[in-house]
Amino acid sequence: MKILALLGSPRKGNSEILLNKAIEHCQKEKHEIHLIKVYELNISDCTACDGCKDTGKCIISDDMDNVYPLLRQVHRILIASPIFFFGIPGQLKLLIDRCQCFWYEKYILKKPIPEEEFKRKALIMLVGGMKKGQIGITCSEATLKAFLRTINVNEHSTISYLGYDEPGSILKNPDLNKDLESAVVQLLKND
Ligand SMILES: Cc1cc2nc3c(=O)[nH]c(=O)nc-3n(C[C@H](O)[C@H](O)[C@H](O)COP(=O)(O)O)c2cc1C
Repeated sequence: MKILALLGSPRKGNSEILLNKAIEHCQKEKHEIHLIKVYELNISDCTACDGCKDTGKCIISDDMDNVYPLLRQVHRILIASPIFFFGIPGQLKLLIDRCQCFWYEKYILKKPIPEEEFKRKALIMLVGGMKKGQIGITCSEATLKAFLRTINVNEHSTISYLGYDEPGSILKNPDLNKDLESAVVQLLKND
């Protein structure tokens, strides 16, 4: 399977640990992994220019040129992200906003969706520093869910961790490996 791994954190921290561990579990079988660290990309903001309205293609040319084909081709998506101000970090949001072209394609142009796209799945991994910041998980998951639905990834599960602020502190969670292993097993299942 082709698997896209999206890292939403700008630092070498907890999200990267989550993503790397999930990737390791995926690699127990033979899969093609495409890792994107969103903070390394040059992504312009969506200007709501409606340039994609009639074609379903964004008219801005930047690093999204290489991301769009992956979003269409992959069978599974891993997303690991910190919570920033009860939501996802800006650079990941830029990538998502630039998927408005998929929205036009799907909901306005009503382009037929290939059958196999309905079988795509995602695993969302979120980490926040606050001990009681459930709203950050709820808001981040809502945004990511809207993104996944728009790009025709209809099934997803979420693993979230709160109370981990220092980079690397997530490793103190004794259930981390077990949680990620079973989430990845579910993700890779064809059902
Ligand atoms: C700009 C900024 C905003 C943050 N806002 C929140 C928040 O709203 N809720 C929360 O639980 N943690 C918040 N945090 C803490 C991070 O989510 C936490 O440090 C997390 O472990 C970072 O993950 P990373 O190591 O993958 O970057 C914030 C951190 C930063 C830098």
